[in-house]
Amino acid sequence: MKLLWAVSALLLSCLRANASTDPNIITYPEEVSNQTSAVLSCNLTEPSFHIKGSHWTHNGKIIEGSKSDVATPYIVHRLDRITYTSSGKYECVFLTDPEVKKTIEVKTLPHVVAYKHSEHGNEKDKGVLVCLSSGYPLPTDWTWFKDGGQTPIINGTTDKYEIKSTPNKTTLVIENLSIEEDIGDYVCSGTNELGTTSDRIHLRVRSRLAALWPFLGIVAEVIILVTIIFIYEKRRKPDEITDDDDSGAAPLKTNSNANHKDKNVRQRNSN
Ligand SMILES: *[C@@H]1O[C@H](CO)[C@@H](O)[C@H](O)[C@H]1NC(C)=O
Ligand SMILES: *[C@@H]1O[C@H](CO)[C@@H](O)[C@H](O)[C@H]1NC(C)=O
Ligand SMILES: *[C@@H]1O[C@H](CO)[C@@H](O)[C@H](O)[C@H]1NC(C)=O
Ligand SMILES: *[C@@H]1O[C@H](CO)[C@@H](O)[C@H](O)[C@H]1NC(C)=O
Ligand SMILES: *[C@@H]1O[C@H](CO)[C@@H](O)[C@H](O)[C@H]1NC(C)=O
Repeated sequence: MKLLWAVSALLLSCLRANASTDPNIITYPEEVSNQTSAVLSCNLTEPSFHIKGSHWTHNGKIIEGSKSDVATPYIVHRLDRITYTSSGKYECVFLTDPEVKKTIEVKTLPHVVAYKHSEHGNEKDKGVLVCLSSGYPLPTDWTWFKDGGQTPIINGTTDKYEIKSTPNKTTLVIENLSIEEDIGDYVCSGTNELGTTSDRIHLRVRSRLAALWPFLGIVAEVIILVTIIFIYEKRRKPDEITDDDDSGAAPLKTNSNANHKDKNVRQRNSN
């Protein structure tokens, strides 16, 4: 008996936790597609529910400022400037017991952007180009083009290209880069049910030798430094010796200076 109670309590709490999508809510519009603004509305048409309040959510997060304690069965949410960031799943939630809610989908063209607009690779290495997408709905199809061409790059027909795509990311891998063939502009296109958006990546290919330049530069720098230090040391050594001996050209100079001073002093004394 106790077990039965526990199980039924568990079931009940499960039911309450998962607020039902209620057939008694009428949404208007049912869906928003390709619009720049919209007013979402929900009408709870079941009068027997006791409403304690309501709010709206966007992709599962409660929208700031949409919470209300008013026991109204009709609520609206205004979207003034719809972009990919405001697209997604909106829900009106009525705080009844249990709470009821319904979803309105706000759809925009996919937002497609290159991870980097300029990429580079070394000759015979591979080039990796990445585009990302956000917004709702995410692309169902991804296509890559080269240099404004109309025929898409086909995945895996040769060993040259491999395309890996998920709804929010596509990767084009180009094997065995060649300076003659692979430098250029690559376009990634993401398509959802509303249409297609593209972005562009410029690929540069450096020759193997060019990749060596920085290394050769460092080697040259080290050689020059070592030479300079060597020459400096060689020139400095005789100076040190003469300094210690207190003879040679430099001391002579100071002596002559001293003589000069002596002369002046002597002259002043005689005056
Ligand atoms: C909500 O639905 C009820 C029943 O269909 C209808 O009578 C009422 O006019 C609606 N309210 C609004 C604000 O649309
Ligand atoms: C491309 O082909 C590779 C293997 O050849 C596969 O793993 C990958 O899923 C394919 N990509 C697409 C977008 O079809
Ligand atoms: C892309 O989707 C995967 C799951 O499909 C997710 O793990 C990842 O965080 C998403 N990336 C971005 C940038 O949204
Ligand atoms: C790489 O491409 C060059 C021509 O650009 C070709 O001669 C060579 O055989 C290719 N190497 C591989 C491993 O495919
Ligand atoms: C959505 O709008 C864009 C331009 O704003 C247009 O190119 C596209 O065809 C529209 N899509 C639909 C399904 O109406």
